[in-house]
Amino acid sequence: MKLRLIVLLALLGLAMSEVFQHQITKIKSARRRMREQGTWKDHLARKELKRLYKQQHPKTFATVSQNVNDWEDMEYVGNITIGTPGQPFAIILDTGSSNLWVPDVTCGSGGGDCNTDSGCNQQGIVCELLCDDPNCCSGAKSAFSRVFRKRSGKVACTGKHLFNSSLSSTYQQNGQSWEIEYGSGSASGFLGVDTVSFGAAGTQQLVVPKTTFGQATDIADVFAQDPAIDGILGLAFTSLAVDNVIPPFINAVNQQLVDQPIFTVYLEERGDIDNTPGGVFTYGGLDTKNCGPVIAYQPLSSATYFQFSIQSIGVGSFSSNAGWDVISDTGTSFIGGPQDVISAIGQAVGATYDDQEGAYFIDCNANPGPVTITIGGKQYQLPKKNTVTDAGQGQCFWDFFPFDFGGFGPSWILGDPFIRSYCNVYDVGQQRIGFTTVTASGK
Ligand SMILES: *[C@@H]1O[C@H](CO)[C@@H](O)[C@H](O)[C@H]1NC(C)=O
Ligand SMILES: *[C@@H]1O[C@H](CO)[C@@H](O)[C@H](O)[C@H]1NC(C)=O
Repeated sequence: MKLRLIVLLALLGLAMSEVFQHQITKIKSARRRMREQGTWKDHLARKELKRLYKQQHPKTFATVSQNVNDWEDMEYVGNITIGTPGQPFAIILDTGSSNLWVPDVTCGSGGGDCNTDSGCNQQGIVCELLCDDPNCCSGAKSAFSRVFRKRSGKVACTGKHLFNSSLSSTYQQNGQSWEIEYGSGSASGFLGVDTVSFGAAGTQQLVVPKTTFGQATDIADVFAQDPAIDGILGLAFTSLAVDNVIPPFINAVNQQLVDQPIFTVYLEERGDIDNTPGGVFTYGGLDTKNCGPVIAYQPLSSATYFQFSIQSIGVGSFSSNAGWDVISDTGTSFIGGPQDVISAIGQAVGATYDDQEGAYFIDCNANPGPVTITIGGKQYQLPKKNTVTDAGQGQCFWDFFPFDFGGFGPSWILGDPFIRSYCNVYDVGQQRIGFTTVTASGK
């Protein structure tokens, strides 16, 4: 009897102790790609105009959800499959949002996009400024349009993997519409339900049946700048999700498909290299190969983003212990913080802000001390190799940017420079976040 119980438990344990490792790839971000092509400043100018217009005309944009991420900075991609048999997609694994979407096979063919993008209802130059597809705007195109428009929104799906629901035996219709606005462009479409599997086909996948996801029928032209990326997979909480859709990992937790309701992120520092192994997402457990033991857990102050409080930040002669709410965000390649603090830090390390580039630059040979962030009484250090990155043409970025959430929510975005310095353990079940050193075998 006793023996049988033990065997039973062992079997049960075996069936439930599922930990899945997901290799990811580092790619060149759209920002870096556009800088090399010389189109970045135009893109930034248009984006800034659009942002200002929206601030002054909030009523025109009723359905815009707030999202911290700009598509153009995302650098780490992973493979997933959707449907049965699995159709492959390369997606951004983003702890700063909560929806999964990929381009649908009908992407760009509907013609309904002019109606769903509220910017396209505007007249004249305002339409050209705000609408993601200038072909939706009536009348002659201005010089403005020619300067800022490189391509139509309708071709943004070209070259991407497209989801064809007719080819999947497990697909279920939903049909509800969705729209997500990122800083740099929007995506919209309808919802469907199918099996979503984390990891590439042919590897050990985390298979999550009955997952609701977005089938994009329209994606803004900025998405086309990243040929390596099909869509985004949000890993934050349901409360942040557009249309309250349950995010894939939360769905996996709800269906008890993983050992523990946590995932661990290890990001590799690869410099400005395109298409190289970039780290590992471990679902259901810790990453014992690349990450050390957990130094400490910090309770989340809000389980929307992975939001928590930090006590202080300092570098060189600068230090402030004002205390802030921050988020840990794999989808942002820099660290964002309040303007006054960022500019004081920039000054302390000798970095200068370039308005036209929308970025800080620093002498590549400069040797700023580590940036120290205090969380729960423990100090975490971000070394130069994770905060100064190659910007090409002999220039280096200082990986910080001024960020204003508008009075609500977090004050800082701890993006990839932080996560490259410490593995982050996203504990969904206990609503806390843990940090570990990156071990030698992971470096
Ligand atoms: C992802 O899939 C592509 C093929 O679509 C493949 O070339 C690449 O090696 C895969 N990457 C990983 C990390 O599995
Ligand atoms: C989607 O798959 C169906 C079934 O094989 C096929 O008939 C259809 O042409 C595909 N759609 C597109 C746009 O490729």
